[in-house]
Amino acid sequence: MRGSLTLIASLAALSSVTQAWLPSQVSRTVTGRRGLTVVEPYSPARRWMLSSKIRGVNLGCLFIIEKWLCPDEWNTIGCSDQNDEFNCVAKLGQEQANSKFQNHWGSWITEDDFDKMNSLNLNAVRIPIGFWMDEGLVGSDEHYPQGGEKYLLDICEMASSHGMYIMLEMHAAPGVQTSDQQFTGHVTTDVEFFNDNNYQRGVDFLTYLTKLVANNNQTRNVGMIGVLNEPERGNSHPDLTSDFYPKAYSAIREAEGNRSDKLHIAFMGTNWGSGDPKQYLPPGYESVAFESHRYQRWDSSVQVKKAAYINDACTNDQTADGETPTLVTEWCIEPPDNVWDPDANEEFYKKWFAAQVIGFEKYAAGWMFWNWKSDLDDWRWDYSKAADALIIPSDLDNMTTNSGACSTGSGSTYGHWP
Ligand SMILES: *[C@@H]1O[C@H](CO)[C@@H](O)[C@H](O)[C@H]1NC(C)=O
Ligand SMILES: *[C@@H]1O[C@H](CO)[C@@H](O)[C@H](O)[C@H]1NC(C)=O
Ligand SMILES: *[C@@H]1O[C@H](CO)[C@@H](O)[C@H](O)[C@H]1NC(C)=O
Repeated sequence: MRGSLTLIASLAALSSVTQAWLPSQVSRTVTGRRGLTVVEPYSPARRWMLSSKIRGVNLGCLFIIEKWLCPDEWNTIGCSDQNDEFNCVAKLGQEQANSKFQNHWGSWITEDDFDKMNSLNLNAVRIPIGFWMDEGLVGSDEHYPQGGEKYLLDICEMASSHGMYIMLEMHAAPGVQTSDQQFTGHVTTDVEFFNDNNYQRGVDFLTYLTKLVANNNQTRNVGMIGVLNEPERGNSHPDLTSDFYPKAYSAIREAEGNRSDKLHIAFMGTNWGSGDPKQYLPPGYESVAFESHRYQRWDSSVQVKKAAYINDACTNDQTADGETPTLVTEWCIEPPDNVWDPDANEEFYKKWFAAQVIGFEKYAAGWMFWNWKSDLDDWRWDYSKAADALIIPSDLDNMTTNSGACSTGSGSTYGHWP
């Protein structure tokens, strides 16, 4: 959950377009559970894309709970005095933790959420997962909740039957991939992912996840696997790109079998700042995608002024050279703390949301908002609440065409914002 570097990239080179990424010719319209019309894209022949742009949300706080975002849910589990799964499970004991977490996994996201996503014209979900879902990989000195796999399959069935494209990703890696973050499942400064043993556990987890996708019909709409969320930035782990990424790529390709509808394999793009993920991939690599996380609030190069935020959203190229397609898989409408009170600035928030969407659809292959749902009494990290507050409209096509969020008007750049 940290902003990516600002970059002025030249237009991305034409991608090596792969069949898996093309909009499906074979989708069909079906009537969903609540009488809503949804597009059912299942096809045994290819992993489709629902439309030319991804418009999605993250299911954060489902398999990895972030206390800052979902404090009530965390409290219900019984761990308000802990910061992460690791210490929560150690405190509760394995058995009680399993029962508490399983209650959470079975209730946090339901059919109603997917009905609502359908009604808001969303077409994709990104599902963050911790490596501990493959229980054989957890060491005897590690503490994580058990039994998640069934709930992942249930969620994938709900998403698939609602016609959503699904991205699964290793959000929390063995040994912890970055310091002091709740999203890793273990808030610690002892960052141990970057060694042979944990790279191997990471590869084994991706193999496990890919086999789960290949062998279960509930996962029929999974089109993409992200290999690693937000690793520590900088140049101190060169073997991340030379060793872990190529091994992760090859392991997923091998585990999915020899099939024409290949999964897309996603890497944090070069702009993230932990190296060029393409550099050591096997020659002729295919069906690869890239993630950008764009939080303007953490980018000190963007002036904290409304006009500057809108201008940046409308013009900031999210796709680095050679990294097509790039998806903006995390972003929000929360500026720096204590800036632009939401109730007093609704018009601005509507325009800022629209401006980011317009930018991400122009300079990337689409987006996934962080997050779908939260316990916060604030809609700026919460798509569902922002839609209820009418900050986010259901007609996204109309919004991108008619909101005027990125029109410059006569001579002034986004001039009506102070
Ligand atoms: C998978 O599930 C879908 C939806 O229920 C169904 O139409 C399809 O036939 C199933 N495919 C297989 C291979 O079981
Ligand atoms: C994979 O499938 C293709 C097309 O069906 C076939 O030509 C090729 O020999 C297969 N490769 C392997 C390793 O099975
Ligand atoms: C389309 O967008 C415009 C500008 O935001 C808005 O005024 C209008 O009500 C929208 N129309 C529909 C049908 O949603």
